[in-house]
Amino acid sequence: MHQRETLKVNGAGHLEIGGCDCTRLAADYGTPLYVFDESYMRNMMRVYKNTIDKNYGGNGLVLYASKAFSCMAVYVIAKQEGIGCDVVSGGELYTALKAGFPADKIYLHGNNKTENELVEAVEAGVGGIIVDSFREADLLDKIARGHNVKQNVLLRINPGVEAHTHAFVQTARTDSKFGFSISDGAAQRITEHVLSLKNLNLQGFHCHIGSQIFESKSFVLAAEKVMDYIAEVKKSLNFTASVLNIGGGFGIHYTDEDPVLTDKDYAGYLDALIEAVKSKASQYGLDLPYLLIEPGRSIVGEAGITLYTVGSVKDIPGIKKYVAIDGGMFENPRYALYQSKYTVVKASDMNAVCTQKVTIAGKCCESGDLIAVDVPLPEVEAGDILAVLSTGAYNYSMASNYNRNFIPQCVLVKDGKADTIIKKQTYEDLVRNDLIPSRLGK
Ligand SMILES: Cc1ncc(COP(=O)(O)O)c(C=O)c1O
Repeated sequence: MHQRETLKVNGAGHLEIGGCDCTRLAADYGTPLYVFDESYMRNMMRVYKNTIDKNYGGNGLVLYASKAFSCMAVYVIAKQEGIGCDVVSGGELYTALKAGFPADKIYLHGNNKTENELVEAVEAGVGGIIVDSFREADLLDKIARGHNVKQNVLLRINPGVEAHTHAFVQTARTDSKFGFSISDGAAQRITEHVLSLKNLNLQGFHCHIGSQIFESKSFVLAAEKVMDYIAEVKKSLNFTASVLNIGGGFGIHYTDEDPVLTDKDYAGYLDALIEAVKSKASQYGLDLPYLLIEPGRSIVGEAGITLYTVGSVKDIPGIKKYVAIDGGMFENPRYALYQSKYTVVKASDMNAVCTQKVTIAGKCCESGDLIAVDVPLPEVEAGDILAVLSTGAYNYSMASNYNRNFIPQCVLVKDGKADTIIKKQTYEDLVRNDLIPSRLGK
């Protein structure tokens, strides 16, 4: 299934998602509104899981990278689909556990996990912790000793492959706040060090080469490099890695500049890297490692859209036309952060012809508060409903209460039914944690 099948134009000329008319959703729940198509998410989880089952004998686990969109309902869906998840903070871990996610299928990431987060993960009995620094290794060893456990860990290593969107580069020395570089010997040093720690059980290695990647070769190259490293430490340290975590990063369609990927394409990425792992294992005479992958964006990205109501329209002749919506960088900061591109449609009249290029402006007090720049759109006026597509990943999870705007509510749609999965905030929510010290008076 692809977004193009998820989204339809109904008889009234309105955009429909998961069988729900977007103008109805806007009327019932208000805007801005995040809408997630449940079937799309489940399908993507299955595509990855089935590929590992079929082509790798089930010797692995899909970990949903929950940083893309973390809330209790999504963990329940992932659990029902029989996959695991990765979390990157105590908050994500808490949310997953609260949703009843099995702890042994949760992996904790982070370049600077706090002591509390490490303690919480050890106490929960997570499946693994991806160690990212010498300090963390020592701290975690101490915590595990205090809890009388031997904690399963992976080491995050940098294979010298960096990928982003359509390009990837091989680098001799990786400049990243994450992980240990193979090329400068840091990976070897931490491997040796962790093997010496009594309360850590080193299972293998993790790498993540970037996000929004379309180039299958970059995943293959990364897998090959980590397998080379596994062979190297087998020889030099007599350590046999039993787990290989290859990270996430599979790209999605935001605009016509991006390819439209099918289930087969996503399975193909995984197949290609599975082949690379098998071929390297056979080259070095290694057992096949247990394979972990961490897709986030590709599971929820195209499953989600955001609905807005148009407010003011400001035409600066010969310069720009701004269409202001009732959202903005507080619910989608990705343009402000990375100049990300989106497709915008007039959900309330999908048959209208695009006659102009407009810039979609948010309502925050920042000139840079834009959602999309110079995008084609039909004529619009106050009250029209717009939809921004492919907003399921890194939108809600990056939202804030900037300007004390509400983080929008999220609904999950399926077969024409919509359910709230994250409630609307209220003004009271905004002041809930505010305190006025008595010395200030009133
Ligand atoms: C370690 C790790 N794993 C997985 C992911 C998920 O990547 P994506 O959402 O592009 O699939 C990320 C994203 O930043 C990451 O840092």
